[in-house]
Amino acid sequence: MKPMPRRKIVAGNWKMNLVYEESIELAEALLEGLQEEKMGDTHVIIAPPSLHIQPITELLLFTPGIAVAAQNCHEEASGAFTGEVSAQMIRSIDADAVILGHSERREFFGETDELIAKKMKAALKNELSVIYCCGERLDERKSDAHEEVVGGQIRTAFKDFSADEMTNVIIAYEPVWAIGTGETATVAQAGSMHHFIRSVLEELFGAATAEATSILYGGSVKPGNAADLFAHADIDGGLVGGASLKADDFIRIIYAMGG
Ligand code: PGA
Repeated sequence: MKPMPRRKIVAGNWKMNLVYEESIELAEALLEGLQEEKMGDTHVIIAPPSLHIQPITELLLFTPGIAVAAQNCHEEASGAFTGEVSAQMIRSIDADAVILGHSERREFFGETDELIAKKMKAALKNELSVIYCCGERLDERKSDAHEEVVGGQIRTAFKDFSADEMTNVIIAYEPVWAIGTGETATVAQAGSMHHFIRSVLEELFGAATAEATSILYGGSVKPGNAADLFAHADIDGGLVGGASLKADDFIRIIYAMGG
C-alpha cells in the first residue's frame, strides 16, 4: 500500500492538438466512458489548449474526479505581454491546475528553472495546483548525469518554496528521450529516479512532504505499459501526451492506475 495522503493521478497533456470540436468530443468521450468504480481513487486531470479550457470546465462542472489544467501560464498577473495568459486568467475560468516546466517549454521557449519558479509562485497564489515537470536529456542519461540534472532542476526550482506550498505541487518526471518517442523508461529506471526525487524533496522539505508528494512518470505512457509502471511504489501515476488524445487509450491508462 502507498502511504496516504499521496494521491494517485493520471494527467493528459493534449499539447497543441485538437480544434474546438475535437476537444469537446474528447472531453465528452471521457465523461461518458469513465466508470467511477474502475477509477478507484485515481484523480484525473486533463490539460487542453488554453482556448478550450472554459467550455471543458463547463462541461465537467459537477464531475468529481476530473480536473482541468492549463499547459503554461505567465509569471506576471497582467500587463503588456502580448500573446500570454496569466495564472489569474486561468483561475478565473475555473481551471484547477497548470503544467509548468514541460521539457518542450524548456527546449523551444527557453524556460529556465528560475523562470519556472516564478510561474509556480503565480499559479499557487491564484489557487492553481502545479504539475512541475523535470527530466534529463538522452546525452545526460548516457553520461550518467541524470540524477545530478534532475536534482539540480528541483533544487533550483523549489529553492524559495515552503513545505506548505508543496502541498499543491505534483512532480512529473519526464525523461526527454522518452517523450513522444515511443521509448519508455523501464520500471527500474523510472522507479529509481522517483525514489531519488523523493529523497531530494525530503532533504529540502522533510520526510512528511516527501511522502505526501505525488510523483508522476511521463514519456510514452501507453495502455500496454501503464500497469507495470504504476505498480511501482514510488510511481504515483502518469503524465500522458500522445495516448491522452484517444479516449479509449486514456481511459485504459486511468484504469491501470485505479485497478
Ligand atoms: P508522450 O508525452 O506521452 O506523448 O510521450 C508526454 C508528455 O510530454 O507529457
